[in-house]
Amino acid sequence: MIRTHDAGSLRIADAGSEVVLTGWVSRRRDHGGVVFVDLRDGSGLVQVVFREGPAAEGAKELRSEWCVKLTGEVRERPAGNTNPDLATGEIEVVVSALEVLSESETPPFPIHGSDDIDSGVDEVTRWRYRYLDLRRTGPAHAIRTRARIASVIRRVMERHGFLDIETPYLTRSTPEGARDFLVPVRLQPGHWYALPQSPQLFKQLLMVSGLERYYQIARCFRDEDFRADRTPEFTQLDIEMSFLDEEDVFALTEELFVELWREILGVELPTPFPRLTYAESMRRYGSDKPDLRFELELVDLTAHMAGTEFRVFQAEHVGAVVVPGGADYTRKDLDGWQEWAKSRGAKGIAWLLVPAEAGAELRGSITKLEPDRLASLSAAAGAKPGDAILFAAGPRRTTLELLGALRNAVARQRGLVREGEWQFLWVVEAPMFEPVSSDNPSVTDAGGPGWTAVHHPFTAPTAEWEQTFHTDPEHALARAYDVVGNGMELGGGSIRIHRREMQQRVFDVIGLSREEAESKFGFLLEAFTFGPPPHGGIAFGLDRLAATLAGTDAIREVMAFPKASSGGDPLTGAPTPITDRQRSEAGIDVRPDG
Ligand code: AMO
Repeated sequence: MIRTHDAGSLRIADAGSEVVLTGWVSRRRDHGGVVFVDLRDGSGLVQVVFREGPAAEGAKELRSEWCVKLTGEVRERPAGNTNPDLATGEIEVVVSALEVLSESETPPFPIHGSDDIDSGVDEVTRWRYRYLDLRRTGPAHAIRTRARIASVIRRVMERHGFLDIETPYLTRSTPEGARDFLVPVRLQPGHWYALPQSPQLFKQLLMVSGLERYYQIARCFRDEDFRADRTPEFTQLDIEMSFLDEEDVFALTEELFVELWREILGVELPTPFPRLTYAESMRRYGSDKPDLRFELELVDLTAHMAGTEFRVFQAEHVGAVVVPGGADYTRKDLDGWQEWAKSRGAKGIAWLLVPAEAGAELRGSITKLEPDRLASLSAAAGAKPGDAILFAAGPRRTTLELLGALRNAVARQRGLVREGEWQFLWVVEAPMFEPVSSDNPSVTDAGGPGWTAVHHPFTAPTAEWEQTFHTDPEHALARAYDVVGNGMELGGGSIRIHRREMQQRVFDVIGLSREEAESKFGFLLEAFTFGPPPHGGIAFGLDRLAATLAGTDAIREVMAFPKASSGGDPLTGAPTPITDRQRSEAGIDVRPDG
């Protein structure tokens, strides 16, 4: 290499050595003839000093982000000038020769001293100049963390005999419930590939082939709206195994997570992770991905309100969140919760403030409730003097979901989240089916009879539902599992159906006709006629794992070249319109039947 040392690696033991360094001018300070430069390379920063000679003359011209090469001697810093915040803070390099490798324009945002991921610069500017953004310590650290995660993953997977196998990106639609990205095919005008929403069908085929243990760090494509934890192009650690049950998936996952948290954060995670059924998770936390870093369990008041004359509480479900110390809520705070509920499409939140002093009057929006019900309400809700009770009432599922979101919002507002803690759990036995909705559309072209698979249609029912899931799809449970960390769904998977007859019954429930099933998944169904093994697997959102381990909420921060929330890539300008020639070559306007 053209340098002898990494700038950030120099220590007091190197004092006296002659070194050649390369890197960027992070900062330059001119102290009346003596020029100090913080030189940055991939390993960190070191202070270099220009005192005299041609190098010192050249140093006067240096500007931020110029790329330079310099030769000098490592010296112990004079007493009183050391910098304990810097790994190289005990030494400096006195420069004897300077070579400018390339000059730099003034960067569009400051790089030196702006180490936090969130620097206050807007995301479009950051992504447009992502190569400069990544010169900052925080963003670069997030990307380095991701690379270390991939390395730990490979080590653990190989230790257990998993094979890293690539599957196609140009393929047919895969059933994960999102819209597909489509690619026109020049050689067959009017025909289109779909980019895979996940490698699901291929990994199942690999099990039929007897490879038994597959993994892949795979890109997935889903045409969905952006969220902090969701982007249209993302990466999964995708896993499939034969001859397994749930315990094998749980054990492997826990081993992987323990190793990741140990290596990346130096944290020892206790195992096994607790398990909650989906039903219990919804009942206690109003969510299938509960954050267990705070308590605040939901209260069910449906029985307490049975037969009430009070209109608000005449509902399938009445529930509440008890806010510790919430009796100090002002009118404005309470109006704020109304607005919050309305912004989520709910009618509102009813409230009751439990006075701190005995005998004082109850205040709330529900004081017209029958007096005996009102009097016993605090006790029924488990509220203490000085608490507030926030109520929601309505259809069971939407009400629980509203309360679950309220639980999260209250915990954040009142500072109840135990930051720094890690709380993992498995959520098991999810429903097999749910009504078709915009969040989980039908995989059938016709729309079907209103049911769609919650996980995907290859997920097996639990033992007790094997014979009956098709006659009671509303209640049938699946051998599906999600791993949740601090309230984020980090991964999900299932034990699959490997018997054709059972698969057909699932297709019947979701309204997939034999012809459509044949045309969409015929290749998989055919493979299942050749002695398929029992199999199952899981996929982790690698971006979510990396974001969690890098200490950020936004998965875009752990992507080297992310897209802006508006969908485009500010760096390359993609997506772009195409020319008439490209359009005609790609056969975009050709209909195969016309
Ligand atoms: P699923 O759809 O649950 O399962 O995806 C698995 C994990 O991938 C992550 N994830 C996402 N991350 C970022 N952006 C997105 N748009 C996005 N969508 C999903 C989540 C999620 O838990 N084939 C099945 C897995 C299996 O059954 O083995 C699947 O893809 O962390």
